[in-house]
Amino acid sequence: MLVYVPSHPLVKHWLAVARNKLSPPPVFRSALAELGRLLIYEATAQDNWLPVLEGQAETPCGVADVAFLDPGRPVKVVPILRAGLVLLEAAATVLPGSQTCHVGYVRDESTLEASAYLNKLPAKLDAEDRILVVDPMLATGGTMVQVLDDIIGRGASPSMIRIVTVVCTPVALKNLSEGYPGLKVYSAMIDAELNDKGYIVPGLGDAGDRAFGTL
Ligand code: URA
Repeated sequence: MLVYVPSHPLVKHWLAVARNKLSPPPVFRSALAELGRLLIYEATAQDNWLPVLEGQAETPCGVADVAFLDPGRPVKVVPILRAGLVLLEAAATVLPGSQTCHVGYVRDESTLEASAYLNKLPAKLDAEDRILVVDPMLATGGTMVQVLDDIIGRGASPSMIRIVTVVCTPVALKNLSEGYPGLKVYSAMIDAELNDKGYIVPGLGDAGDRAFGTL
Protein backbone atom coordinates (compact mmCIF):
# COMPACT_ATOMS: atom_id res chain seq x y z
CA MET A 1 0.00 0.00 0.00
CA LEU A 2 1.31 3.44 -0.90
CA VAL A 3 0.13 6.78 0.43
CA TYR A 4 0.50 10.07 -1.44
CA VAL A 5 0.20 13.49 0.21
CA PRO A 6 0.46 16.07 -2.58
CA SER A 7 2.37 19.24 -1.63
CA HIS A 8 0.40 21.51 -4.00
CA PRO A 9 -0.27 24.94 -2.43
CA LEU A 10 -3.95 24.65 -3.38
CA VAL A 11 -4.23 21.45 -1.34
CA LYS A 12 -2.77 23.33 1.64
CA HIS A 13 -5.11 26.29 1.03
CA TRP A 14 -8.35 24.28 0.89
CA LEU A 15 -7.25 22.15 3.84
CA ALA A 16 -6.76 25.36 5.86
CA VAL A 17 -10.32 26.43 4.98
CA ALA A 18 -11.71 23.01 5.92
CA ARG A 19 -9.78 22.95 9.22
CA ASN A 20 -11.20 26.30 10.35
CA LYS A 21 -14.10 25.60 12.72
CA LEU A 22 -15.64 28.95 11.71
CA SER A 23 -16.11 27.86 8.07
CA PRO A 24 -19.89 27.46 7.62
CA PRO A 25 -21.30 24.35 5.88
CA PRO A 26 -21.30 25.74 2.29
CA VAL A 27 -17.67 26.90 2.68
CA PHE A 28 -16.62 23.64 4.34
CA ARG A 29 -18.34 21.65 1.56
CA SER A 30 -16.71 23.60 -1.22
CA ALA A 31 -13.28 23.25 0.44
CA LEU A 32 -13.77 19.46 0.58
CA ALA A 33 -14.97 19.44 -3.03
CA GLU A 34 -11.86 21.36 -4.18
CA LEU A 35 -9.64 18.96 -2.24
CA GLY A 36 -11.53 16.05 -3.79
CA ARG A 37 -10.94 17.36 -7.31
CA LEU A 38 -7.22 17.98 -6.72
CA LEU A 39 -6.69 14.59 -5.09
CA ILE A 40 -8.71 12.77 -7.76
CA TYR A 41 -6.55 14.31 -10.51
CA GLU A 42 -3.52 12.88 -8.68
CA ALA A 43 -5.14 9.52 -8.00
CA THR A 44 -6.11 8.96 -11.62
CA ALA A 45 -2.99 10.30 -13.34
CA GLN A 46 -0.65 7.33 -13.09
CA ASP A 47 -0.33 3.65 -14.09
CA ASN A 48 -2.70 3.99 -17.08
CA TRP A 49 -5.39 3.78 -14.43
CA LEU A 50 -7.85 5.65 -16.65
CA PRO A 51 -8.13 3.53 -19.82
CA VAL A 52 -8.29 5.62 -22.99
CA LEU A 53 -9.22 4.88 -26.57
CA GLU A 54 -7.48 6.58 -29.46
CA GLY A 55 -9.25 7.97 -32.47
CA GLN A 56 -9.61 11.02 -34.61
CA ALA A 57 -11.75 14.12 -34.29
CA GLU A 58 -12.73 16.53 -37.01
CA THR A 59 -12.08 20.04 -35.83
CA PRO A 60 -13.47 23.05 -37.68
CA CYS A 61 -10.03 23.31 -39.35
CA GLY A 62 -8.87 19.72 -39.90
CA VAL A 63 -8.47 16.28 -38.36
CA ALA A 64 -6.64 15.62 -35.08
CA ASP A 65 -5.51 12.42 -33.37
CA VAL A 66 -7.31 12.29 -30.02
CA ALA A 67 -7.62 10.09 -26.95
CA PHE A 68 -10.73 9.85 -24.82
CA LEU A 69 -11.83 7.85 -21.80
CA ASP A 70 -12.99 4.36 -22.70
CA PRO A 71 -16.79 4.46 -22.22
CA GLY A 72 -16.74 0.67 -21.86
CA ARG A 73 -14.69 0.91 -18.65
CA PRO A 74 -16.35 3.58 -16.49
CA VAL A 75 -14.72 4.28 -13.14
CA LYS A 76 -16.82 3.02 -10.25
CA VAL A 77 -16.90 5.64 -7.50
CA VAL A 78 -17.75 4.28 -4.04
CA PRO A 79 -18.69 7.11 -1.62
CA ILE A 80 -18.91 6.10 2.03
CA LEU A 81 -21.98 7.97 3.36
CA ARG A 82 -22.49 10.56 4.57
CA ALA A 83 -19.36 12.64 4.22
CA GLY A 84 -18.20 10.75 1.12
CA LEU A 85 -21.09 12.37 -0.79
CA VAL A 86 -19.17 15.64 -0.95
CA LEU A 87 -16.21 13.91 -2.61
CA LEU A 88 -18.60 12.03 -4.92
CA GLU A 89 -19.81 15.38 -6.30
CA ALA A 90 -16.18 16.32 -6.95
CA ALA A 91 -15.56 12.97 -8.68
CA ALA A 92 -18.57 13.51 -10.93
CA THR A 93 -17.08 16.79 -12.17
CA VAL A 94 -13.69 15.19 -12.87
CA LEU A 95 -14.54 11.75 -14.26
CA PRO A 96 -16.79 11.68 -17.34
CA GLY A 97 -19.23 8.78 -17.35
CA SER A 98 -18.35 7.42 -13.91
CA GLN A 99 -20.74 5.10 -12.11
CA THR A 100 -21.67 5.39 -8.43
CA CYS A 101 -21.98 2.60 -5.87
CA HIS A 102 -23.12 4.15 -2.58
CA VAL A 103 -22.27 2.43 0.68
CA GLY A 104 -23.53 3.67 4.05
CA TYR A 105 -22.04 2.90 7.45
CA VAL A 106 -23.18 4.09 10.86
CA ARG A 107 -20.93 4.16 13.89
CA ASP A 108 -22.02 2.92 17.31
CA GLU A 109 -20.82 5.79 19.51
CA SER A 110 -20.10 3.51 22.50
CA THR A 111 -18.08 0.79 20.73
CA LEU A 112 -16.94 2.99 17.78
CA GLU A 113 -17.73 -0.05 15.55
CA ALA A 114 -19.33 0.75 12.18
CA SER A 115 -22.06 -1.35 10.59
CA ALA A 116 -23.51 -1.18 7.06
CA TYR A 117 -27.00 0.17 6.45
CA LEU A 118 -26.75 0.62 2.64
CA ASN A 119 -24.81 -1.27 -0.01
CA LYS A 120 -25.16 -0.52 -3.72
CA LEU A 121 -22.07 -2.40 -4.90
CA PRO A 122 -22.73 -4.63 -7.92
CA ALA A 123 -22.95 -8.35 -7.12
CA LYS A 124 -19.87 -8.97 -9.26
CA LEU A 125 -16.83 -6.85 -10.02
CA ASP A 126 -13.88 -7.84 -12.16
CA ALA A 127 -10.13 -7.52 -11.75
CA GLU A 128 -9.97 -4.78 -14.42
CA ASP A 129 -12.59 -2.56 -12.76
CA ARG A 130 -11.20 0.81 -11.68
CA ILE A 131 -12.60 1.63 -8.25
CA LEU A 132 -12.29 4.94 -6.45
CA VAL A 133 -13.38 4.81 -2.79
CA VAL A 134 -14.01 8.26 -1.30
CA ASP A 135 -14.33 9.20 2.37
CA PRO A 136 -12.86 12.46 3.72
CA MET A 137 -11.92 11.01 7.14
CA LEU A 138 -9.87 7.83 7.63
CA ALA A 139 -9.70 7.63 11.41
CA THR A 140 -8.97 4.00 12.32
CA GLY A 141 -9.58 2.68 8.81
CA GLY A 142 -12.03 0.12 10.27
CA THR A 143 -14.90 1.07 7.95
CA MET A 144 -12.55 1.29 4.97
CA VAL A 145 -11.27 -2.24 5.68
CA GLN A 146 -14.87 -3.53 5.65
CA VAL A 147 -15.57 -1.73 2.37
CA LEU A 148 -12.34 -2.95 0.73
CA ASP A 149 -12.95 -6.55 1.83
CA ASP A 150 -16.45 -6.36 0.38
CA ILE A 151 -15.23 -4.87 -2.93
CA ILE A 152 -12.43 -7.43 -3.28
CA GLY A 153 -14.78 -10.27 -2.26
CA ARG A 154 -16.90 -9.36 -5.31
CA GLY A 155 -13.94 -9.85 -7.67
CA ALA A 156 -12.06 -6.53 -7.82
CA SER A 157 -8.27 -6.37 -7.62
CA PRO A 158 -6.70 -4.31 -4.77
CA SER A 159 -4.18 -2.89 -7.28
CA MET A 160 -7.04 -1.21 -9.20
CA ILE A 161 -8.47 0.46 -6.08
CA ARG A 162 -7.63 4.06 -5.20
CA ILE A 163 -8.73 5.68 -1.94
CA VAL A 164 -9.24 9.44 -1.84
CA THR A 165 -9.49 10.92 1.63
CA VAL A 166 -8.75 14.34 3.15
CA VAL A 167 -7.32 13.55 6.58
CA CYS A 168 -6.03 10.13 7.60
CA THR A 169 -4.00 8.76 10.51
CA PRO A 170 -1.01 6.44 10.89
CA VAL A 171 -3.34 3.92 12.60
CA ALA A 172 -5.60 3.82 9.53
CA LEU A 173 -2.65 3.53 7.17
CA LYS A 174 -1.25 0.66 9.24
CA ASN A 175 -4.60 -1.14 9.08
CA LEU A 176 -4.58 -0.77 5.29
CA SER A 177 -0.92 -1.65 4.86
CA GLU A 178 -1.34 -5.42 4.70
CA GLY A 179 -3.60 -7.55 2.59
CA TYR A 180 -4.17 -5.04 -0.21
CA PRO A 181 -1.22 -5.29 -2.62
CA GLY A 182 -1.09 -2.35 -5.01
CA LEU A 183 -3.67 -0.27 -3.11
CA LYS A 184 -2.95 3.49 -3.22
CA VAL A 185 -4.23 6.15 -0.83
CA TYR A 186 -4.32 9.88 -1.66
CA SER A 187 -4.75 12.25 1.26
CA ALA A 188 -4.34 15.99 1.87
CA MET A 189 -2.82 15.33 5.32
CA ILE A 190 -1.83 12.68 7.83
CA ASP A 191 -2.73 13.74 11.39
CA ALA A 192 -1.05 11.97 14.29
CA GLU A 193 -3.82 11.31 16.77
CA LEU A 194 -7.32 10.14 17.58
CA ASN A 195 -9.22 11.28 20.68
CA ASP A 196 -11.24 8.96 22.95
CA LYS A 197 -14.37 9.58 20.84
CA GLY A 198 -12.58 8.35 17.72
CA TYR A 199 -12.19 11.83 16.18
CA ILE A 200 -8.99 12.80 14.41
CA VAL A 201 -6.99 15.50 16.23
CA PRO A 202 -6.67 18.21 15.01
CA GLY A 203 -8.66 16.80 12.06
CA LEU A 204 -11.77 18.52 10.76
CA GLY A 205 -14.35 17.58 13.39
CA ASP A 206 -17.38 15.58 12.26
CA ALA A 207 -17.07 16.00 8.48
CA GLY A 208 -20.63 14.80 7.76
CA ASP A 209 -22.18 17.16 10.32
CA ARG A 210 -20.08 20.08 9.11
CA ALA A 211 -20.77 19.40 5.41
CA PHE A 212 -24.53 19.13 5.84
CA GLY A 213 -25.07 21.50 8.77
CA THR A 214 -26.44 18.66 10.94
CA LEU A 215 -27.66 19.84 14.34
N1 URA B 1 -15.24 10.91 11.08
C1 URA B 1 -15.28 12.27 11.11
O1 URA B 1 -16.18 12.87 10.53
N2 URA B 1 -14.33 12.93 11.78
C2 URA B 1 -13.33 12.31 12.42
O2 URA B 1 -12.47 12.98 13.02
C3 URA B 1 -13.28 10.90 12.40
C4 URA B 1 -14.25 10.22 11.73
